[in-house]
Amino acid sequence: MSENANVVALPTGKRFPEARAGGISLGAAVDAGRFKLGMRRLAAGVSIIATTLEEVRYGLVATAVNSVSADPPTLLVCVSQTASAHDFISRAGRFSVNVLHADDRELAENFSRPEFRTRRFSFGEWSTATTGAPVLDSALVAFDCLIAQEARVASHTVFFGQVVDVRLSDGPIDPLLFWNSSYHTAEAGPR
Ligand SMILES: Cc1cc2nc3c(=O)[nH]c(=O)nc-3n(C[C@H](O)[C@H](O)[C@H](O)COP(=O)(O)O)c2cc1C
Repeated sequence: MSENANVVALPTGKRFPEARAGGISLGAAVDAGRFKLGMRRLAAGVSIIATTLEEVRYGLVATAVNSVSADPPTLLVCVSQTASAHDFISRAGRFSVNVLHADDRELAENFSRPEFRTRRFSFGEWSTATTGAPVLDSALVAFDCLIAQEARVASHTVFFGQVVDVRLSDGPIDPLLFWNSSYHTAEAGPR
């Protein structure tokens, strides 16, 4: 048994079909508050996920973005099923991932606060990507994606995007970062 009361030793060599089906009933599931405390320590880049459906643009800020595969180029984003953009991303079948520059904190706030929901795209300069999704001109990089697959897992949907275009900015690569519930920059440089 672990010394930490919040960690339950699981039998080794065993698979957990209940967990894979999304319905954990193992007693091993940690409470959400502790999970969030842990996730706060995971520093992440900040991106805007954007889509267009019937000529209307929708978007949100996300840190849950990751590479899946290089061949074919595939990434994933996790979007809350309660986010106003969620259903539009699914229906549009396309989205862009716009990785934010250190100077884009205000833009990130506009894309995460509900009060800006209807005028998010009036902030920043946006163009149209190959798929028709909006792309942010100032992004460090913008990935233009077609949805290859989506999986509903608990409160979120994981959208797997096949990347059809990558737009790289020419300027300095200073990312906007988020951890411990606040925005940061990578000023200290390489170690
Ligand atoms: C730094 C930061 C990271 C976020 N990451 C995600 C994320 O990965 N997935 C997600 O669904 N929501 C994420 N959110 C929350 C959404 O941005 C926010 O709830 C959403 O934009 C609200 O959208 P709505 O007003 O359009 O419903 C994040 C918010 C912030 C401030």
